[in-house]
Amino acid sequence: MRMYDLIVKKKNGGELTREEIAWFVRGVCSGEIPDAQTAALLMAICLKGMGEREASDLTQEMLASGKTADLSAIPGKKADKHSTGGVGDSTTPVVAAVVAACGLKVAKMSGRALGHTGGTVDKFESMPGFRSDLSPREFADVVNRVGAAVIAQTGELCPADKKLYALRDLTGTIDNVALIASSIMSKKLASGADVIMLDVKYGSGAFIKKPENALELADLMVRIGERAGRSVGAVVTSMDVPLGRAVGNLLEMYEAADLLCGKGEPDKRLVCRTLASGMLSLAGMGTREACGEMIDRAVASGRAFEKLCEMIRAQGGDPAMLEEPGRRVYAPCRREIRADGDCRGYLTRMDTEKIGITAGILGEARKRPEDKVDYTAGILIAKKTGDPVKPGDLLCELHTSDSSALDEAERLYREALTFGGEPPRVPPILYAAVGPNGSVSRF
Ligand code: URA
Repeated sequence: MRMYDLIVKKKNGGELTREEIAWFVRGVCSGEIPDAQTAALLMAICLKGMGEREASDLTQEMLASGKTADLSAIPGKKADKHSTGGVGDSTTPVVAAVVAACGLKVAKMSGRALGHTGGTVDKFESMPGFRSDLSPREFADVVNRVGAAVIAQTGELCPADKKLYALRDLTGTIDNVALIASSIMSKKLASGADVIMLDVKYGSGAFIKKPENALELADLMVRIGERAGRSVGAVVTSMDVPLGRAVGNLLEMYEAADLLCGKGEPDKRLVCRTLASGMLSLAGMGTREACGEMIDRAVASGRAFEKLCEMIRAQGGDPAMLEEPGRRVYAPCRREIRADGDCRGYLTRMDTEKIGITAGILGEARKRPEDKVDYTAGILIAKKTGDPVKPGDLLCELHTSDSSALDEAERLYREALTFGGEPPRVPPILYAAVGPNGSVSRF
């Protein structure tokens, strides 16, 4: 086979066979295919697309390029969830705890902060002592004993994706539905869960801007997962505004604890409930409605919140800051951002990506892989899109351990907001759900 022929075939709109895709992925991993040719094929895929069969084959070949988690020591069904990323998107601690409290095991591998979006592992590691590097035996033991565990994803899963993702990042070829779907699904399949619930984001804080494109991605990921024999569902949700009111690792853990105690912002509660009921239902535990009621009971009884604390303790962490609100730790440097004299009427738009970058400047994210994260850094949001605003109103509070970051963070946060005289149309947080066989329901 010649890489030149594969590039020309795709450039002319042809379909790559399984053998060609397998040969390509092996060549990428062994280093035999030069980056220039790999990048050319990625660009041709971006321009001409890939069908469901090709995307599924690419997923399977990337999956085969590395190790697969062996969850055989955990009896029964294992569930996992994945979000395509966003700002304030701390749904995993909430969903994992409530689902485990309802009796479904959650075995989850998560990533760290990526670009402007936070990382689940960083959020859990903001709990003192929490270990995300459990051995496979420890991981299975915690899932069996407690019902849920969250560990950091290792580089041993899907090395082909790691190489391809790095090249896509350099060549402007990230935003193709088939490439995104195969990248995400290869890692999800490698993580070994039987039930996979996907949260596909669209909007100013997501890398997909339009809901219809997010729905296309959700649909393709569900189909790829089903072809691989897993139970997969997806919801398409808005990331046009940050989810909830907290951005930052510790601040989001506090918000997660509040949500598990039945408090917190209704939109975020709705997203968490929808994901959790979808997972339980995919696992065969009842209809979405019945599973939703099961979740409400787990929250009302306190079992869901207690499960989160149990998960943290089982992985070596200390949940005292969640258990006793008086022990919550906050950043030493804080600044209130208030509406100035021009801010009249309504907050009409939030550039959520910029808000994520602001949190990064405050110390929520790493600039280099070896950097330490400031767990206390972040933003507490007071006004969101659609809220009326008058001069002097509190817009948000910036939190950091590095006072020199405050001026730049304030400038960027203010830049992220647009005000106007008319109330804007705020789209509902839930856009659509994709169920078995790609059945789509609109909310
Ligand atoms: N996240 C991934 O893991 N892969 C993509 O291609 C995009 C987002």
